[in-house]
Amino acid sequence: MRKLILAAASIAALTLAGPAAAQSPIVIKFSHVVASNTPKGLAADKFKELAEKYTGGKVKVEVYPNSQLYKDKEELEALQLGAVQMLAPSNSKFGPIGVREFEVFDLPYILPDLKTLRKVTDGPLGAKLLKLLDSKGMIGLAYWDNGFKQMSANKKLLSPADYKGLKFRIQSSKVLEAQFRTLGVIPQVMAFSEVYQSLQTGVVDGQENTWSNIYTQKMHEVQKYMINTNHGYIGYVVVVNKKFWDDLPADIRAACDKAMKEATEYGNSQSAKENEDALAEIKKTGKSEIVTLTPEQDAAMRKALESVYQDVAKRVGQPLIDEFLKETRGATN
Ligand code: LMR
Repeated sequence: MRKLILAAASIAALTLAGPAAAQSPIVIKFSHVVASNTPKGLAADKFKELAEKYTGGKVKVEVYPNSQLYKDKEELEALQLGAVQMLAPSNSKFGPIGVREFEVFDLPYILPDLKTLRKVTDGPLGAKLLKLLDSKGMIGLAYWDNGFKQMSANKKLLSPADYKGLKFRIQSSKVLEAQFRTLGVIPQVMAFSEVYQSLQTGVVDGQENTWSNIYTQKMHEVQKYMINTNHGYIGYVVVVNKKFWDDLPADIRAACDKAMKEATEYGNSQSAKENEDALAEIKKTGKSEIVTLTPEQDAAMRKALESVYQDVAKRVGQPLIDEFLKETRGATN
């Protein structure tokens, strides 16, 4: 696959010879792994619409959803090599390229709600985290929401003990690995595009994701139970190839920045509803039972996962966790 990415990158390099302005129109390939009718898919399509409008057609955005071009790990390589220009990987996926700090968003129960999340992403901590991407050949442009994660399996998972011995698919985040190991689960890192089939064939027993991702990937058709835990968060960092972005004529970049800002506002205003609608659709199919934990069961899950914070302090650093908690503390979950 790396060869293919390299080939695509050299074609991109040929077409990019000379300033980006020389091309007409300037093409932004935006690759992502989820369906178009998800919070990320909708925001990407909105960015396309607005960037093309605000540049008067001088920019053409080609959105490739559903891992059509690249899977999770490959898309980040492709961006760094210039085979695509824009992506929105989840916070959990930056570890393998050496930026583990975004994994702090993966800590269980760290965010009580999306309003509190904004304090982090729109504040100095959010800006500081985006800056870390510069050294990786990319610029972090925005934070996009998906929403809160739920657990799914073929077993009714009511208590922490119920998880023991199961195999769960995880994203490539050490925090998520620690979360599942704490529950006695065997975590398996896997690309998003492979999750449905792995659940269907029993390669893994369960997974965690948002209602929107579960519904659009039809995971509810191959999992008997969905546990409404809201135990974690999935959100994205929109990244663009740094050289490509820096080489854009200033007026074009400003127009794209404006489009990104508005697409972000739009996407983030829709994400909660997208997830609610997806949950309603899953319920309608009757294919999977939605399990709500009692307050006692919820408290037991929170307690069981507390130790993850100490485990991952070594990885992301206690000061970063403290900084994050300083923003979110005081809000009720
Ligand atoms: C996942 O891999 O489960 C998600 O990050 C996919 C996505 O982009 O929402």
